[in-house]
Amino acid sequence: ADYQTNKRHRSSDEGQHRAAETLSAHRQLYERHFPLYKQPVEVGCFSLDSRRNFCNDQRQLRYYVQPTKSPDFNLRDGYTSRFVKRDDSVKEKLDHVLKWILANRDKIQTRDQTPSSSALGVDFVTWRGHLTKVLTTPYETQEGWMLAASKFRGSIYISEVETEAARVNRETRSQRQEEMMYWGYKFEQYICADDVDGTPDPGGVVNTNEAFCTVVQTRLADHKLLFSGEVDCRVKEPDAPPAPGCYVELKTSAEICTPKQRSNFHRYKLLKWWAQSFLPGVPQIVAGFRDHDGIVVAVETFPTSKISQLIKNEFNCWKPTVCMNFCNDFLSFVKSVVKEDDPRLVYLFTWDPHREVTYAVHRDSQYTFLPEWYIKDMSS
Ligand code: A3P
Ligand code: MG
Ligand code: MG
Repeated sequence: ADYQTNKRHRSSDEGQHRAAETLSAHRQLYERHFPLYKQPVEVGCFSLDSRRNFCNDQRQLRYYVQPTKSPDFNLRDGYTSRFVKRDDSVKEKLDHVLKWILANRDKIQTRDQTPSSSALGVDFVTWRGHLTKVLTTPYETQEGWMLAASKFRGSIYISEVETEAARVNRETRSQRQEEMMYWGYKFEQYICADDVDGTPDPGGVVNTNEAFCTVVQTRLADHKLLFSGEVDCRVKEPDAPPAPGCYVELKTSAEICTPKQRSNFHRYKLLKWWAQSFLPGVPQIVAGFRDHDGIVVAVETFPTSKISQLIKNEFNCWKPTVCMNFCNDFLSFVKSVVKEDDPRLVYLFTWDPHREVTYAVHRDSQYTFLPEWYIKDMSS
């Protein structure tokens, strides 16, 4: 049965040795039983400091401080005076994840894994954010993506390439859009303390270079994954579950005043929020709902595991199983295409809304993303 399902949405016969040329993103093709997704296990973490330097520690981890019933958060405060913005024209690719791997090779779990299949014992290395985009693809109608893949020592590394459309968007953001990008980080500052016994400091500087990232291992069907994702904060109780179970994702969204706004929130926002937090096993999302002027009017907690029930009343709504089955099939597609073990070879997978996933192969091009320092260190 699986074989037939596979054939139906591949463009050409997937014979013993020939990979399919394209992959369909039609949601109807992915309405199958939920695939195995193992509970993600944190194998490490790292921080990026105020100058965006990699630090092999948890110095940037912050602690969740529950806001009062009616908080007084003005997300516009400090935008012009206490804001250091990360330069998002700098493309970091997988570099921070690769630095973590080099410093922590011994921490990658190789138990219960077939020996000699790959040096790291994982099939894929990537950022959580890249997987979030894959998960939401069957429902995405606005933005396409490009994902570069290279095989090195048996593992496939996946790194995003900015699309032309995304670059134009980034370079032509309005004043209002620029300011609103700050609001999410300002919300974090109102909610997070730097120390376990501290309190938030809304008078401080918001510096978006700073980040704390978890590194998790998990398995989706027969794909062994290692990925990293930025984590906003953790609960401070010492008896909280171990990471990632203690982590909290923070979000902001426009306040909901009409049934139409509620429906849109369920259909579009909650899909992205769910995919982002489900992947690394972050159990809670704390949302700040703000008005047009950036004043937070309500704070609400969404347990990640309850989101799929919350949206079931929505007609023709998104389904977690479609997201996970598409991701599973995409990773199988990548495995079937990325056969040559050569870090100078990039298989560039491209998807645009209403199209199929296609790919092209590039050797020693602008797309090569595994740096020499990584290849050298891993080969020594
Ligand atoms: P919100 O989540 O409240 O929108 P994250 O939520 O993933 O931790 O990201 C923190 C904040 O970064 C976001 O807060 C938003 O302000 C900004 N941000 C993240 N991704 C963005 C994107 N693609 N475009 C614009 N802003 C983004
Ligand atoms: Mg974040
Ligand atoms: Mg957040």
